[in-house]
Amino acid sequence: MICIRGAIQAENTKQSIWQETETMLREAIQANDLALEEIVAIQFTATADLDAAYPAVAARKMGITEAALSCVAEMKVVGSLPRCLRMNLWVENGKAQKEAKHVYLGGAAVLRPDLAGGKSFAVAIDGPAGSGKSTVAKQVASDLALIYIDTGAMYRAFSLYCMRLGLSTEQEEAVLPALSDFSMEFRNENGQRRVYLAGEDITQTIRTQQVGQGASNVARYLPVREKLVELQRHMAQGKRVIMDGRDIGTHVLPNAQLKIYLDAALEERAKRRLGELRENGQQATLPEVTAQIAARDDNDKNRQYHPLRQADDAIVIDSTDMTVEEVAAAIEQLAKERM
Ligand code: CDP
Repeated sequence: MICIRGAIQAENTKQSIWQETETMLREAIQANDLALEEIVAIQFTATADLDAAYPAVAARKMGITEAALSCVAEMKVVGSLPRCLRMNLWVENGKAQKEAKHVYLGGAAVLRPDLAGGKSFAVAIDGPAGSGKSTVAKQVASDLALIYIDTGAMYRAFSLYCMRLGLSTEQEEAVLPALSDFSMEFRNENGQRRVYLAGEDITQTIRTQQVGQGASNVARYLPVREKLVELQRHMAQGKRVIMDGRDIGTHVLPNAQLKIYLDAALEERAKRRLGELRENGQQATLPEVTAQIAARDDNDKNRQYHPLRQADDAIVIDSTDMTVEEVAAAIEQLAKERM
């Protein structure tokens, strides 16, 4: 039996405590190549300033159902790191303790600088609408225990926010005043990434063509991009992530270890998008969707700030004749070589 140590900081909200606990667990699972059944027990500790939730709940939600879990209070010592979650994770995998890879993440890296180096890892996926970025990214995230960050959902959330306020997304001066009060978040619920706007689950609501077009409009404005890019970088800092969008490899994460430019023929992308819309209960025809996608690509490729463009060091994958599994397998192979 070996024991893996971990630490990470969180905000004192249920969502943050669960999300950071999940990140810490995923990092430990990935770094030590663990199967969930090998986990025997986990003891979590939290500093006294974290009392909004039990971290063990996040482990159960991830499917760690057999292991013995407990949560205890960390000793209060003068000058110690605030808002810190720690864990001892016991594993039966036939390895020796000296092979254990401990995970000290984000702000908690200061606790063990000797162990924290080189833990972050990023896969950037860019490409036009309907090329399959989000479907593939979710698959890779799940297979390689990476955190998935859907940056398009952030632009879509701002688009929806503006539309609900009755602001025209086509006018920069109309939407910019709304930016300072806008806040969205990703939450993990039962192993799924959900998008929230002011406490409301908008995961499905933002998947319409109208919200997509509005997203493409607001994504042209520099202050909008700057605010969302800052959030995106913060979400990726010190973590192992896969992020998809339009400017990830070129601008948001220029040092990503792996950059993919995912493309597909326009007709194929339109067919996929139509399928998605119909599944979502929305009416549309193929010519309509093809025209909408082409217009959005045009908008995204020709805008002034951070347009959609293949990074010089990106690997191009054309998914026109590939299944989701094939694309995911190709990306996973490349990612493993670089980890
Ligand atoms: O799902 P789909 O590929 O159609 O779009 P999305 O990824 O949800 O993004 C919606 C819109 O947000 C895009 O058309 C872009 O204009 C914008 N976006 C962006 O400018 N930069 C990103 N990193 C992600 C999305």
